[in-house]
Amino acid sequence: MHYETIFQEIYHELQSIENIGRVADYIPELADVNPDQFGVHLTTVEGDEFSFADAEKRFSIQSIAKVFTFVLAYSRVKSSIWDRTGLEPAGTPFNSLVQLEYDQGTPRNPFINAGAIVICDILASELASPKENILSFIRSLTGVNTINYNPMVALSEKKTGFRNHALVNLMKSFGNIRNDIDMVMDIYFHICSIEMSCRELSKAFLFLANNGVVPYSGERILSASRTKRTNALMQTCGFYDEAGEFSFKVGLPGKSGVGGGIVAVHPEKYTIAVWSPRLNKKGNSYKGMLFLEEFTTKTRLSIF
Ligand code: DON
Repeated sequence: MHYETIFQEIYHELQSIENIGRVADYIPELADVNPDQFGVHLTTVEGDEFSFADAEKRFSIQSIAKVFTFVLAYSRVKSSIWDRTGLEPAGTPFNSLVQLEYDQGTPRNPFINAGAIVICDILASELASPKENILSFIRSLTGVNTINYNPMVALSEKKTGFRNHALVNLMKSFGNIRNDIDMVMDIYFHICSIEMSCRELSKAFLFLANNGVVPYSGERILSASRTKRTNALMQTCGFYDEAGEFSFKVGLPGKSGVGGGIVAVHPEKYTIAVWSPRLNKKGNSYKGMLFLEEFTTKTRLSIF
């Protein structure tokens, strides 16, 4: 299929639609990003790659990193992960506190902030040098050793992360955080600050389209069964209170971040990463979602 031609077609179609989204500005460092950038990259499980526009430009991956940390924790602690977090869609914004008290400190799923913070706590217990080990893991998925944290963004997250601090304290009060709170939050704020391009993200997620094996290295990251379950979690929980709409319109498992990135996976076929910084009201990329909707409609390459 001529993916690059399709990318161009959709991009030009979307130019005529006003981009009503807004760049995330609750983290000062994100507010400075040029909002009109756009990139897309698709990688097939056979290793073919297709790019358009700013596909090589790095941006803040934000909550997309929650998939990497979840996978790292899941691959180590296996099903005991479900003693610490649920696996149901929350139907609430990513930083919501409301359910956590009712659920006695157990987050609904690992992709809302509360769940991702518990996963950081698990990694703090499991890994010798969590921040270095997480980075090495992501670098090994892509073969790119320059992927890194942005310390300015991590600091900015820390200074403005009042809700995240509330979440971790609430969970600590219920006994669902085992390590020192500041240490856990340092990991969380750093993973949000990781910078990657669409090309790097698309390659890093490829093992999820390939039954758990990194195609270019042959390394198994997850069993086929846990890969299926990770994709199912992305399908049902990857877009917070917009997971239903993403499923309805795009029809692929995926994960978004407030940096404007979205990665989606078609098991056995391809991964696609798109970046457009302006966000809709739910905190997901406005044009990124529209682009993916058009892409899976035109190509008929959704899972439904
Ligand atoms: O915890 C936060 O506020 C952010 N650093 C991450 C949020 C995020 O990307 C939510 N996703 N759409």
